[in-house]
Amino acid sequence: EAAEKAGYEHFMLKEIHEQATSVYDTFAGKLSELDGSVNLEELNISDEDIRNIDRIEIIACGTSWNAGLLGKYLFEKLAGIHTDVDIGSEFRYGNPIMRNNVLSIAITQSGETADTLAAVKSCKAYGCNSIAITNVVGSSITRVVDSVLYTRAGPEIGVAATKTFTAQLIILYLLSIRFARTRGTINTNEAKDLLIELKRIPGKIQKILNRKAEIRECAEIFAEERDYFFVGRNVNYPVALEGALKLKEISYIHAEGFAGGELKHGPLALLDEGTPVVAIATKGHVYDKILSNIKEVKAREARVIAVAEKGDTEIEKYVDYVLRIPPTHEMLAPILSSVVLQLLAYYTALAKDCSIDKPKNLAKSVTVE
Ligand code: G6P
Repeated sequence: EAAEKAGYEHFMLKEIHEQATSVYDTFAGKLSELDGSVNLEELNISDEDIRNIDRIEIIACGTSWNAGLLGKYLFEKLAGIHTDVDIGSEFRYGNPIMRNNVLSIAITQSGETADTLAAVKSCKAYGCNSIAITNVVGSSITRVVDSVLYTRAGPEIGVAATKTFTAQLIILYLLSIRFARTRGTINTNEAKDLLIELKRIPGKIQKILNRKAEIRECAEIFAEERDYFFVGRNVNYPVALEGALKLKEISYIHAEGFAGGELKHGPLALLDEGTPVVAIATKGHVYDKILSNIKEVKAREARVIAVAEKGDTEIEKYVDYVLRIPPTHEMLAPILSSVVLQLLAYYTALAKDCSIDKPKNLAKSVTVE
């Protein structure tokens, strides 16, 4: 096992470090930043059918569901397609309305999650075209759907998903840009900008990894707290949810993620100096809004850790700690912020001497209900 960990203390840390490569491997050969095109040969859906999609139904569980929520922002913003994101177990026992041209997209790292599989099978029964995003070649989900888009993250051993999550995000960026180009909802230059920046992401992940000592310092300061809040808006909202999930999974600290605008609808009642708040505050159209949330939270004496871009000097005025990411496109920042939050969770769990790769009561793959 020590050999498999390649010198890292835990598989999770190794897998966090592999992300510069796994992100690259997942998009390699699939995009051309010269003409803004995305080539997904694996897709068994015609351009005409892509133009006719009325709604996308994303189905997933756990971390994959958080990836799916980012997918909703991408498909709606870039491709103009109404998108719902359902939890596998809710969808399968719900009463979904599957009229017209619904495309179902299942996201599952293992390809074996029972609830996701059952939900996707019911989509098939409704006659939907279906796509699976999975990391495991030949897994059960691949036998159910019309098209399989593989994440190329390599095997993930740590129970807490890391490199498979960022690889899922990459597929969602590629798919939403591909749909947007086919439907004519973004122009060549907008696509080029996104793809040029996507190609820079692996190098930027490496920059974060090189400065992990700062994240460790911050994690150690708050490791003994009982509750942690994570807030984000728009594309950073799924990042907040995933940051909270990572922390609770491996450090056993109670952590919750919120959309910034929801703070005043309940969570503020719980805040005091003993509840650190992580605010994902990357530049974009809701930056001022998240700054307002930070001020609300500071007024309740909570200490705030911001995830913000290098060069953002304004943020320092309002928060206690800043964890930096290299500047990037507003839509792509979630990949980088997620790496920061994975490291924050990892070093918190390390400081508490938790069983990082095998957290209590959790399994890597949930193949029963
Ligand atoms: C388990 C794992 C999580 C994972 C979830 C969904 O709970 O511990 O890390 O996100 O299952 O798994 P899937 O393989 O469907 O992505």
